[in-house]
Amino acid sequence: MAYQDFQAFLRDLEAHGELVRISAPVSPYLEIAEVADRVMKSPGGGKALLFEQPAGYGMPVAINTMGSRRRISMALGVGDIEDLAAEIADLAKPEIPTGWRERLRLLPKLQRLAAVPPRTVSSAPCQEVVLQGPDVDLTRLPILTCWPQDGGPFVTLPLVFTHDPATGKRNVGMYRMQVYDRHTTGMHWQLHKSGAEHHRQSRQAGRRIEIAVALGGDPACTFAAIAPLPPGIDEMLFAGFVRRKPVEMVRCKSVDLSVPAEAEMVLEGYVDPDETRPEGPFGDHTGFYTPIEDYPVFHVTTLTRRRSPVYPATIVGRPPMEDGWMGKAVERVFLPLIKLVAPDIVDMHLPVHGCFHNVALVSIRKRYPGHAFKVMNTLWGLGQLMFTKVILVFDDDVDVQNLDEALWRFANNIDPERDMQVTRGPIDVLDHASRQVGYGSKIGFDCTRKLAAEGYGRVWPEAIAMSAEVRSRIDDLWPSLGLDAGGR
Ligand SMILES: Cc1cc2nc3c(=O)[nH]c(=O)nc-3n(C[C@H](O)[C@H](O)[C@H](O)COP(=O)(O)O)c2cc1C
Repeated sequence: MAYQDFQAFLRDLEAHGELVRISAPVSPYLEIAEVADRVMKSPGGGKALLFEQPAGYGMPVAINTMGSRRRISMALGVGDIEDLAAEIADLAKPEIPTGWRERLRLLPKLQRLAAVPPRTVSSAPCQEVVLQGPDVDLTRLPILTCWPQDGGPFVTLPLVFTHDPATGKRNVGMYRMQVYDRHTTGMHWQLHKSGAEHHRQSRQAGRRIEIAVALGGDPACTFAAIAPLPPGIDEMLFAGFVRRKPVEMVRCKSVDLSVPAEAEMVLEGYVDPDETRPEGPFGDHTGFYTPIEDYPVFHVTTLTRRRSPVYPATIVGRPPMEDGWMGKAVERVFLPLIKLVAPDIVDMHLPVHGCFHNVALVSIRKRYPGHAFKVMNTLWGLGQLMFTKVILVFDDDVDVQNLDEALWRFANNIDPERDMQVTRGPIDVLDHASRQVGYGSKIGFDCTRKLAAEGYGRVWPEAIAMSAEVRSRIDDLWPSLGLDAGGR
């Protein structure tokens, strides 16, 4: 089911008991973050929160709206994120119909794809109010200061729209924005991201790059902004696929870009080719502060909004946080596409502790000597998985979603010298341990059973397990043993 807009999503969350309204005045300066952090860290991710009266501001703030398995699934219009993953797996199957029956079977798939392209509309809720030039005042928005040492307030859920200067193709990425004053912010597109690439190209041409930043809209659009799509694949096309309905786009008022018509608010403006300004510190996804670094400056020339908008926010910090659930959805939804290039992969788990880019646990159907190393190298060559610092590869009988099991196998199955591979390459810009920003080393461990052809001359032992017969006998006996139910 597609949500018309962000407020429709909030209403649905409330109807399903997934949203708590907070009417007490709570300050966007650290206080909302402290409440949200406690809620996000409660079992399962807590509830979404709607701060109806952020102290000192007339605009409500919604936070943690995607911060549980159920809510991220609702955001993507499915009962569970695995349902969307299954649909993508089905679509990714190459099927060439050979008869009319098979053609008929393909029809639903084609219908699903027909809904994908965005549609342009001429008037839009996100432009009910238009503020330009001196009337733009970002300091009047309830933008959160998240952590005590943050350099200022940060817009944390922005959908940043740019066009590739060479091809004209659209990109939408989520890049945080530090508010400097009434109409300028930082633009934290990291070195490897598409927005930064567009900026590099426009700098080379000596031209400023136009930008539009949307806040809100169907949460499928927000998810599309964080999705690691290959450059050139339109995020709004992907959002249309997820929501089974085209995203309605409207032309911006002052820049040559279009944005989702149903957004809560849109900031239009530009980044000059050579202007930078210190950005940060910022309490980041990793749970540590990222230090001050120079980033481009976004000049906001026009602000358009609904008459009564809700400001969408998140906070990041020491995991688990709301972004952990967004990352989980990315992991599940993109696995079928990863399997297209690496069909030997059975499952993958990017644990929240590793902030998604640090650790990947992968299970494979091992078929030949060195297979685990081949899979590591595939992953290090694949989109944003290139950032993965540690890859552990297991056999397909290991449940990589179960960290206890995976660590047990890892610890017992490796001869470190033989089973590790160290390599070098791009590292996530947020990584504070690498030798320099964005570049460092990675390690992979082959935690699979070793083959004779891999130089293993001993007999690989069986993992201990009770026989099925005895287990079933004890299951029957259990209630009479006076022990608690947990042992069953
Ligand atoms: C809450 C949140 C905040 C993010 N902030 C940033 C950021 O400040 N800079 C950045 O480069 N990536 C950030 N990301 C990750 C990017 O949005 C993500 O890598 C996305 O795929 C980038 O899109 P692109 O490939 O079109 O550049 C953030 C992700 C989330 C979930």
